[in-house]
Amino acid sequence: MRASESIRRLVAENSLRTDDLIAPIFVCDDPKEISSMPGISQVSPNKVADTVTQLDALGINAVILFGVPTTRDSVGSDAYSSTGIVQRATNEIKSRLGDSMLVIADLCLDEYVEHGHCGVLDSQGRVDNDATLEVYSRIALSQAQAGVDMVAPSGMMDGQVRAIRNVLDANSFGSVSIMAYSAKYSSALYGPFRDAVDVHLAGDRKTYQQDPSNVREAIEEVLYDVREGADIIMIKPAGHYLDVISRVRERINNPICAYQVSGEYSMIKAASAKGWIEEDQVVFETLLSIKRAGADMIITYFAPFVARQLRG
Ligand code: PBG
Repeated sequence: MRASESIRRLVAENSLRTDDLIAPIFVCDDPKEISSMPGISQVSPNKVADTVTQLDALGINAVILFGVPTTRDSVGSDAYSSTGIVQRATNEIKSRLGDSMLVIADLCLDEYVEHGHCGVLDSQGRVDNDATLEVYSRIALSQAQAGVDMVAPSGMMDGQVRAIRNVLDANSFGSVSIMAYSAKYSSALYGPFRDAVDVHLAGDRKTYQQDPSNVREAIEEVLYDVREGADIIMIKPAGHYLDVISRVRERINNPICAYQVSGEYSMIKAASAKGWIEEDQVVFETLLSIKRAGADMIITYFAPFVARQLRG
Protein backbone atom coordinates (compact mmCIF):
# COMPACT_ATOMS: atom_id res chain seq x y z
CA MET A 1 0.00 0.00 0.00
CA ARG A 2 3.01 2.30 0.07
CA ALA A 3 5.02 0.92 -2.82
CA SER A 4 4.45 3.76 -5.25
CA GLU A 5 3.46 7.40 -5.31
CA SER A 6 0.23 6.48 -7.10
CA ILE A 7 -0.93 3.99 -4.47
CA ARG A 8 0.04 6.42 -1.69
CA ARG A 9 -2.06 9.09 -3.33
CA LEU A 10 -4.97 6.69 -3.67
CA VAL A 11 -5.01 5.77 0.00
CA ALA A 12 -4.14 9.19 1.41
CA GLU A 13 -6.57 10.00 4.21
CA ASN A 14 -5.89 13.70 4.18
CA SER A 15 -4.62 16.25 1.72
CA LEU A 16 -3.66 19.86 1.57
CA ARG A 17 -5.45 21.99 -1.00
CA THR A 18 -4.99 25.60 -2.05
CA ASP A 19 -8.65 26.06 -1.10
CA ASP A 20 -7.69 25.36 2.53
CA LEU A 21 -5.35 28.33 2.77
CA ILE A 22 -5.87 31.81 4.17
CA ALA A 23 -3.02 34.26 3.62
CA PRO A 24 -2.27 36.86 6.33
CA ILE A 25 -1.46 40.41 5.18
CA PHE A 26 -0.02 43.25 7.28
CA VAL A 27 -1.19 46.61 6.00
CA CYS A 28 0.80 49.73 6.82
CA ASP A 29 1.13 53.19 5.24
CA ASP A 30 4.89 53.08 5.69
CA PRO A 31 5.61 49.43 4.92
CA LYS A 32 8.71 47.60 6.14
CA GLU A 33 10.18 44.15 5.88
CA ILE A 34 9.78 42.07 9.01
CA SER A 35 13.22 40.90 10.04
CA SER A 36 12.00 38.12 12.34
CA MET A 37 9.77 36.71 9.54
CA PRO A 38 12.02 36.24 6.49
CA GLY A 39 10.07 36.66 3.26
CA ILE A 40 7.18 38.58 4.83
CA SER A 41 6.70 42.33 4.39
CA GLN A 42 4.06 44.83 5.30
CA VAL A 43 2.06 46.19 2.35
CA SER A 44 0.67 49.69 1.82
CA PRO A 45 -3.05 50.14 1.08
CA ASN A 46 -2.32 51.39 -2.44
CA LYS A 47 -0.32 48.24 -3.26
CA VAL A 48 -2.47 45.72 -1.42
CA ALA A 49 -4.77 45.09 -4.38
CA ASP A 50 -1.69 44.10 -6.47
CA THR A 51 -0.51 41.72 -3.74
CA VAL A 52 -3.93 40.15 -3.44
CA THR A 53 -4.28 39.85 -7.22
CA GLN A 54 -1.08 37.77 -7.19
CA LEU A 55 -2.54 35.52 -4.49
CA ASP A 56 -5.72 35.20 -6.54
CA ALA A 57 -3.63 34.12 -9.54
CA LEU A 58 -2.15 31.36 -7.35
CA GLY A 59 -5.65 30.13 -6.53
CA ILE A 60 -5.80 31.52 -2.99
CA ASN A 61 -9.37 32.59 -2.17
CA ALA A 62 -9.04 34.22 1.23
CA VAL A 63 -6.89 36.77 3.05
CA ILE A 64 -6.89 38.00 6.64
CA LEU A 65 -5.89 41.63 7.17
CA PHE A 66 -3.95 43.04 10.12
CA GLY A 67 -3.61 46.80 10.37
CA VAL A 68 -0.50 48.64 11.49
CA PRO A 69 -1.79 52.20 12.00
CA THR A 70 0.39 55.32 11.90
CA THR A 71 -1.02 56.63 15.17
CA ARG A 72 -2.13 54.81 18.31
CA ASP A 73 -4.22 56.11 21.18
CA SER A 74 -5.92 54.85 24.33
CA VAL A 75 -9.13 53.68 22.58
CA GLY A 76 -7.71 52.46 19.29
CA SER A 77 -9.68 54.88 17.13
CA ASP A 78 -7.97 53.95 13.83
CA ALA A 79 -9.55 50.49 14.20
CA TYR A 80 -13.07 51.88 13.73
CA SER A 81 -12.40 54.87 11.48
CA SER A 82 -13.87 54.76 7.96
CA THR A 83 -10.41 55.88 6.79
CA GLY A 84 -8.59 53.40 9.06
CA ILE A 85 -5.80 51.32 7.60
CA VAL A 86 -7.83 48.10 7.30
CA GLN A 87 -10.88 49.91 5.95
CA ARG A 88 -8.81 51.53 3.17
CA ALA A 89 -7.12 48.23 2.32
CA THR A 90 -10.50 46.50 2.17
CA ASN A 91 -11.85 49.15 -0.20
CA GLU A 92 -8.89 48.64 -2.52
CA ILE A 93 -9.16 44.86 -2.53
CA LYS A 94 -12.91 44.78 -2.97
CA SER A 95 -12.96 47.32 -5.77
CA ARG A 96 -10.36 45.27 -7.69
CA LEU A 97 -11.43 41.70 -6.89
CA GLY A 98 -15.00 41.82 -5.57
CA ASP A 99 -16.41 38.54 -4.35
CA SER A 100 -13.63 36.43 -5.84
CA MET A 101 -11.45 37.19 -2.80
CA LEU A 102 -12.81 36.61 0.69
CA VAL A 103 -11.62 39.40 2.97
CA ILE A 104 -11.39 38.62 6.67
CA ALA A 105 -10.43 41.39 9.08
CA ASP A 106 -8.69 40.64 12.35
CA LEU A 107 -10.75 42.47 14.95
CA CYS A 108 -8.66 43.51 17.90
CA LEU A 109 -7.22 46.53 19.64
CA ASP A 110 -3.63 45.58 20.37
CA GLU A 111 -2.22 47.12 17.18
CA TYR A 112 -4.24 50.32 17.67
CA VAL A 113 -3.55 51.22 21.29
CA GLU A 114 -0.36 52.43 22.95
CA HIS A 115 -0.21 49.69 25.59
CA GLY A 116 -0.54 46.61 23.34
CA HIS A 117 -3.36 44.86 25.21
CA CYS A 118 -6.33 43.49 23.30
CA GLY A 119 -8.80 45.78 25.03
CA VAL A 120 -9.26 49.17 26.64
CA LEU A 121 -7.97 49.56 30.19
CA ASP A 122 -9.83 50.62 33.33
CA SER A 123 -8.53 53.20 35.81
CA GLN A 124 -6.37 50.53 37.47
CA GLY A 125 -4.74 49.52 34.19
CA ARG A 126 -6.67 46.26 33.81
CA VAL A 127 -8.42 45.21 30.62
CA ASP A 128 -12.06 46.29 30.91
CA ASN A 129 -14.03 43.49 29.27
CA ASP A 130 -17.36 45.25 28.83
CA ALA A 131 -15.95 48.60 27.74
CA THR A 132 -13.92 46.65 25.18
CA LEU A 133 -17.06 44.99 23.81
CA GLU A 134 -18.42 48.43 22.93
CA VAL A 135 -15.28 49.29 21.01
CA TYR A 136 -15.27 45.87 19.28
CA SER A 137 -18.85 46.53 18.15
CA ARG A 138 -17.79 49.83 16.58
CA ILE A 139 -14.87 48.11 14.85
CA ALA A 140 -17.09 45.32 13.50
CA LEU A 141 -19.59 47.78 12.07
CA SER A 142 -16.88 49.89 10.49
CA GLN A 143 -15.15 46.84 8.96
CA ALA A 144 -18.49 45.62 7.59
CA GLN A 145 -19.22 49.03 6.10
CA ALA A 146 -15.81 48.93 4.41
CA GLY A 147 -16.82 45.65 2.74
CA VAL A 148 -15.20 42.79 4.66
CA ASP A 149 -16.86 39.39 4.30
CA MET A 150 -15.89 38.15 7.73
CA VAL A 151 -14.62 39.60 11.00
CA ALA A 152 -12.25 37.69 13.26
CA PRO A 153 -12.34 38.88 16.86
CA SER A 154 -9.02 37.89 18.42
CA GLY A 155 -9.02 39.38 21.91
CA MET A 156 -10.85 36.61 23.80
CA MET A 157 -13.17 39.04 25.63
CA ASP A 158 -16.18 37.35 27.20
CA GLY A 159 -19.31 37.93 25.12
CA GLN A 160 -17.45 39.31 22.10
CA VAL A 161 -19.14 37.07 19.55
CA ARG A 162 -22.66 37.90 20.75
CA ALA A 163 -21.93 41.64 20.88
CA ILE A 164 -20.53 41.61 17.34
CA ARG A 165 -23.34 39.41 15.95
CA ASN A 166 -25.91 41.79 17.43
CA VAL A 167 -24.40 44.91 15.98
CA LEU A 168 -23.95 43.35 12.54
CA ASP A 169 -27.51 42.04 12.43
CA ALA A 170 -28.98 45.33 13.65
CA ASN A 171 -27.25 47.13 10.78
CA SER A 172 -28.25 44.80 7.93
CA PHE A 173 -24.93 43.00 7.87
CA GLY A 174 -26.43 39.59 8.57
CA SER A 175 -24.32 38.05 5.83
CA VAL A 176 -21.02 39.18 7.35
CA SER A 177 -19.79 36.13 9.19
CA ILE A 178 -17.71 35.70 12.33
CA MET A 179 -14.55 33.66 12.65
CA ALA A 180 -13.94 33.57 16.39
CA TYR A 181 -10.48 33.12 17.83
CA SER A 182 -12.15 30.90 20.42
CA ALA A 183 -9.19 29.02 21.74
CA LYS A 184 -6.40 31.52 21.65
CA TYR A 185 -3.60 30.49 23.92
CA SER A 186 -1.45 32.96 25.78
CA SER A 187 1.54 31.81 23.75
CA ALA A 188 5.15 32.85 23.34
CA LEU A 189 4.85 31.87 19.67
CA TYR A 190 3.39 35.26 18.70
CA GLY A 191 6.74 37.01 19.19
CA PRO A 192 7.59 37.65 15.52
CA PHE A 193 4.02 38.87 14.86
CA ARG A 194 4.53 41.58 17.47
CA ASP A 195 7.54 42.77 15.47
CA ALA A 196 5.39 42.68 12.35
CA VAL A 197 2.77 44.95 13.88
CA ASP A 198 5.22 46.86 16.09
CA VAL A 199 3.39 46.07 19.31
CA HIS A 200 5.40 46.14 22.52
CA LEU A 201 3.34 44.56 25.20
CA ALA A 202 4.24 45.28 28.80
CA GLY A 203 3.21 42.26 30.83
CA ASP A 204 1.21 39.38 29.40
CA ARG A 205 -2.32 38.30 28.50
CA LYS A 206 -2.67 35.44 30.91
CA THR A 207 -5.78 36.91 32.50
CA TYR A 208 -7.85 36.70 29.31
CA GLN A 209 -6.17 34.16 27.03
CA GLN A 210 -5.81 30.42 27.50
CA ASP A 211 -3.29 28.68 29.68
CA PRO A 212 -1.25 26.19 27.60
CA SER A 213 -1.84 23.52 30.22
CA ASN A 214 -5.59 23.41 29.59
CA VAL A 215 -7.68 21.72 26.94
CA ARG A 216 -11.11 21.23 28.52
CA GLU A 217 -11.24 24.95 29.11
CA ALA A 218 -10.63 25.50 25.40
CA ILE A 219 -13.57 23.28 24.55
CA GLU A 220 -15.78 25.35 26.86
CA GLU A 221 -14.61 28.56 25.19
CA VAL A 222 -15.41 27.09 21.80
CA LEU A 223 -18.90 25.99 22.88
CA TYR A 224 -19.64 29.47 24.26
CA ASP A 225 -18.68 31.03 20.96
CA VAL A 226 -20.76 28.58 18.94
CA ARG A 227 -23.77 29.39 21.12
CA GLU A 228 -23.13 33.10 20.69
CA GLY A 229 -23.24 32.74 16.91
CA ALA A 230 -19.69 32.11 15.70
CA ASP A 231 -19.65 30.68 12.17
CA ILE A 232 -16.06 29.42 12.15
CA ILE A 233 -14.02 28.51 15.21
CA MET A 234 -10.34 29.23 15.35
CA ILE A 235 -7.62 27.52 17.32
CA LYS A 236 -4.28 29.25 17.71
CA PRO A 237 -1.39 28.41 17.65
CA ALA A 238 -1.83 25.29 15.52
CA GLY A 239 1.11 22.90 15.45
CA HIS A 240 1.59 22.55 19.19
CA TYR A 241 -2.14 22.39 19.83
CA LEU A 242 -3.19 19.52 17.59
CA ASP A 243 -4.88 17.81 20.53
CA VAL A 244 -7.06 20.88 20.98
CA ILE A 245 -8.03 20.82 17.30
CA SER A 246 -8.91 17.15 17.40
CA ARG A 247 -10.87 17.40 20.67
CA VAL A 248 -12.83 20.37 19.36
CA ARG A 249 -13.45 18.53 16.08
CA GLU A 250 -15.24 15.78 18.03
CA ARG A 251 -17.53 18.28 19.74
CA ILE A 252 -18.71 20.71 17.06
CA ASN A 253 -19.86 20.71 13.48
CA ASN A 254 -18.78 24.23 12.61
CA PRO A 255 -15.78 24.61 10.35
CA ILE A 256 -12.50 24.83 12.25
CA CYS A 257 -9.68 27.15 11.29
CA ALA A 258 -6.20 26.67 12.71
CA TYR A 259 -3.65 29.48 12.77
CA GLN A 260 -0.06 28.47 12.12
CA VAL A 261 1.33 31.52 13.87
CA SER A 262 4.40 33.68 13.33
CA GLY A 263 6.62 31.72 15.74
CA GLU A 264 5.81 28.47 13.96
CA TYR A 265 6.71 30.13 10.66
CA SER A 266 9.94 31.70 11.91
CA MET A 267 11.21 28.52 13.57
CA ILE A 268 10.91 26.66 10.27
CA LYS A 269 12.52 29.54 8.37
CA ALA A 270 15.41 29.84 10.82
CA ALA A 271 16.19 26.12 10.92
CA SER A 272 16.03 25.83 7.16
CA ALA A 273 18.26 28.91 6.71
CA LYS A 274 20.83 27.03 8.82
CA GLY A 275 20.46 24.02 6.56
CA TRP A 276 19.17 21.90 9.43
CA ILE A 277 15.82 20.93 7.95
CA GLU A 278 14.26 20.63 4.49
CA GLU A 279 11.94 23.59 4.42
CA ASP A 280 9.56 22.36 1.70
CA GLN A 281 8.99 19.02 3.36
CA VAL A 282 8.61 20.43 6.85
CA VAL A 283 6.07 22.99 5.66
CA PHE A 284 3.92 20.33 4.03
CA GLU A 285 4.27 17.96 6.98
CA THR A 286 3.24 20.60 9.53
CA LEU A 287 0.25 21.75 7.48
CA LEU A 288 -0.90 18.24 6.70
CA SER A 289 -0.69 17.37 10.40
CA ILE A 290 -2.95 20.32 11.17
CA LYS A 291 -5.45 19.02 8.59
CA ARG A 292 -5.17 15.48 10.00
CA ALA A 293 -5.98 16.79 13.48
CA GLY A 294 -9.26 18.08 12.07
CA ALA A 295 -8.81 21.63 10.79
CA ASP A 296 -10.79 22.56 7.69
CA MET A 297 -8.68 25.60 6.86
CA ILE A 298 -5.36 27.07 7.89
CA ILE A 299 -4.07 30.60 8.22
CA THR A 300 -0.41 30.35 7.30
CA TYR A 301 2.38 32.68 6.21
CA PHE A 302 3.43 29.87 3.87
CA ALA A 303 0.18 30.19 1.87
CA PRO A 304 1.71 31.61 -1.35
CA PHE A 305 4.59 29.13 -1.18
CA VAL A 306 2.25 26.17 -0.71
CA ALA A 307 -0.07 27.37 -3.48
CA ARG A 308 2.91 27.58 -5.84
CA GLN A 309 4.09 24.11 -4.89
CA LEU A 310 0.64 22.59 -5.27
CA ARG A 311 0.35 24.14 -8.70
CA GLY A 312 3.55 22.33 -9.65
C1 PBG B 1 -4.18 40.02 17.71
C2 PBG B 1 -3.49 38.90 16.98
C3 PBG B 1 -2.23 38.41 17.22
C4 PBG B 1 -2.01 37.37 16.32
C5 PBG B 1 -3.14 37.27 15.53
N1 PBG B 1 -4.05 38.22 15.97
C6 PBG B 1 -1.21 38.89 18.16
C7 PBG B 1 -1.29 38.54 19.55
O1 PBG B 1 -2.25 37.98 20.03
O2 PBG B 1 -0.33 38.91 20.23
C8 PBG B 1 -0.75 36.56 16.27
C9 PBG B 1 -0.54 35.78 15.03
C10 PBG B 1 0.85 35.31 14.82
O3 PBG B 1 1.68 35.21 15.75
O4 PBG B 1 1.15 35.00 13.67
N2 PBG B 1 -4.43 41.11 16.89
